[in-house]
Amino acid sequence: MFAVYAREPNYEEPLKSLATGERPEPDVPDGWVKVAVRAASLNMHDIWTLRGVGIKGEQFPMILGCDGAGVLEDGTEVVLHSIIGDADRGGDETLDPRRTLLTELHQGTFADHVVVPARNVVPKPAGLSFAEAATMGTAWLTAYRMLFVKSGLRPGQTMLVQGASGGVSTALVQLGRAAGLRVWVTGRTAAKRALAEQLGAHQSFEPGARLPERVDGVFETVGKATWGHSIKALKPGGVVVVSGSTSGPDAEAELQRVFFLQLRILGSTMGTRAELMDLLQFVDLAGIQPRIGAQMALRDAETGFRSMLEGDTEGKIVFVT
Ligand SMILES: NC(=O)c1ccc[n+]([C@@H]2O[C@H](COP(=O)([O-])OP(=O)(O)OC[C@H]3O[C@@H](n4cnc5c(N)ncnc54)[C@H](OP(=O)(O)O)[C@@H]3O)[C@@H](O)[C@H]2O)c1
Repeated sequence: MFAVYAREPNYEEPLKSLATGERPEPDVPDGWVKVAVRAASLNMHDIWTLRGVGIKGEQFPMILGCDGAGVLEDGTEVVLHSIIGDADRGGDETLDPRRTLLTELHQGTFADHVVVPARNVVPKPAGLSFAEAATMGTAWLTAYRMLFVKSGLRPGQTMLVQGASGGVSTALVQLGRAAGLRVWVTGRTAAKRALAEQLGAHQSFEPGARLPERVDGVFETVGKATWGHSIKALKPGGVVVVSGSTSGPDAEAELQRVFFLQLRILGSTMGTRAELMDLLQFVDLAGIQPRIGAQMALRDAETGFRSMLEGDTEGKIVFVT
């Protein structure tokens, strides 16, 4: 079958490891299902995989793609939940120490077919296209958990999203606006800030800008480049929820502010199957149209990878088969 995959790890020049072509059709173990992929979206995780981060050397070649939407062999339209762990463990799948995300151990979704445990598919709402549904499983699920499960923020409070045009950040803006929060965003260019406002941000600012007032919560995926601003932007008792560190992990901790203002720093990763179901229901009920910044054929995936690597995003990048 046709697939887009990582040949080997290449930290310095990740695109040199990107390959397209034939890969073996997957076997379907008992209790697993085969999904004909209709759409899948690109995440920064795919670039980490090309770099060899979060994956063992012996797992290459690895088909990329952590999320997607498609059709089961019986015709059911589904969205993938890509955390694969111990089926008998129960509870929060994101806390399973043995969990893996698709592409860390099992082959990913940038292919004609993907196989996953049967519990890793949920029904696709009819109101979402396959391309829209393909944005839900990673970036949107991560944003949903950060905002609604971790932050403790209420409608009417103010949230700051660091980064305007990325997958997680556009999802946070759209979710926050729909849930009745005051949404502020930082973005690196005027065009990215304009996009955030178009998606529902009440105000947007240059990175590091002095804000009109301190905020109740900050949503961090950028890391080193914005961490100090995130901590300084918080009201006493405020919360920063962090799920990524695109610009690097080693930020100044700002410990004095953290203890003196009794700030809370919460880590967040992906979301549970139940949270994915709730996210899909919320997007459907609230009539949210997830922002797709670029859509292209899976065969042209390299263009999308290049855009993400260069920071040239306008929302999710989606590949269709
Ligand atoms: N823990 C999890 O489960 C989880 C899940 C999903 C993603 N993540 C992580 O979250 C991060 C974002 O992922 P994504 O898929 O949303 O990526 P993406 O679509 O490429 O978005 C990157 C974001 O980073 C922002 N950014 C601001 N300053 C930056 C700088 N100096 N260097 C690079 N980027 C900067 C961009 O803001 P502008 O709009 O201003 O350019 C943009 O919003 C990644 O590190 C990813 O690994 C973690």
